[in-house]
Amino acid sequence: MQLSRDEEDILDGKAGNAAAKSMKILAALGEIYGAKRLIPVTSVQVAGVSYENLGDAGLEYLAELAVDGRVKVLTTLNPAGMDLKDWRKLGIPDEFAVKQKKVIDAFSRMGIVTSCTCTPYLAGNLPAFGEHVAWGESSAVTFVNSVIGARTNREGGPSALAAAIIGKTPEYGLHLSENRKPDVHVRVDAKITGLSDYGALGYVIGKSAEGRIPYITGLGVIDVDSLKSFSASVVTFGAKPLFHIENVTPEARAFKQPLQTIVIRQKELDDAYKALNDEGDVVDFVSLGCPHCSIKEIAEIADHLEGKKVNPKVELWVATSRPIKVLSDERGYTKVIEDAGGKFACDTCMVVAPIKGRFKSIATTSAKACYYSRGRNAMKTKIGPMEKCIDAAVTGKWS
Ligand code: F3S
Repeated sequence: MQLSRDEEDILDGKAGNAAAKSMKILAALGEIYGAKRLIPVTSVQVAGVSYENLGDAGLEYLAELAVDGRVKVLTTLNPAGMDLKDWRKLGIPDEFAVKQKKVIDAFSRMGIVTSCTCTPYLAGNLPAFGEHVAWGESSAVTFVNSVIGARTNREGGPSALAAAIIGKTPEYGLHLSENRKPDVHVRVDAKITGLSDYGALGYVIGKSAEGRIPYITGLGVIDVDSLKSFSASVVTFGAKPLFHIENVTPEARAFKQPLQTIVIRQKELDDAYKALNDEGDVVDFVSLGCPHCSIKEIAEIADHLEGKKVNPKVELWVATSRPIKVLSDERGYTKVIEDAGGKFACDTCMVVAPIKGRFKSIATTSAKACYYSRGRNAMKTKIGPMEKCIDAAVTGKWS
């Protein structure tokens, strides 16, 4: 990859240690993927924020970068391992909180907005169509590539941070128009409504379009919450972090429908629900907000919970970003949810928080949450519509 004179100087340490380390990462990535040059990015989303994933080695790396590293573009953070204000309420140990706060402090010293959400596009980091960005977090990457039409590869924690410090990323992969073409047509011949249906559909399409970019037809108008649920699921189960949906996503018109067609019928959807729902009907954990809840979803949760009480044997989490929580506070939704016994999990979620071993069985609207709750946290999983999950929180049973 060709570096400019200025970029060579940065690599040689003339702009400090953090910038040199960052340039080294970007240059190595560019070489590996055959990029010809670095291109400017307008925003960055950094994943790998939970101390649970970083450990002491990650914390040391961040502390070293924070000595002289400063970000050049708007940079936001993925969820941390705890609610940064109310971690004790979620049962997070104080020793973990001390380390997690050090992680957040290091990011903050670098000039990063410590928003800690996987839906940064709902909380102040919203690129426009065609912008080049460097984002981590698979669901957010898939959402901005597909729904917004911004361009990003799926960055790891160090490469996203390097892009933030340099303000550039190597030009390869999904930054290039020729790599954004769909390579399989998926026709949906089933009725899809609501978050869990879109999660289940993402499961089916992710598996059948593994490693490819699907061009999807047969769906009508889709709301943003369903699109974020689908974005999270389709990439988790194997597709590339980009999809096109006829009459919905902005680049669908730019490409011809690929020749190979896969048809998804109700049976495949029903099979997806079966695959994501484990045996047994007892639920001890209900977690909503994967990806993080919008204000519309929180309104829906409050509406379903009004006048009810969460079963004392069940813990109910509502995962969202802090800015959305402020709106929820102002509208009175927080009070309704907390009066019923629900807990807000701001800045975090059921996957990146250190909860392994605390719960046996989770109910959720999210196929991605099922995948990671099984794999990382050894829980049994139940997926269904919001109302069904809230019923499970109240009764402790999946019916
Ligand atoms: Fe977000 Fe956590 Fe789900 S980061 S997409 S809520 S696994």
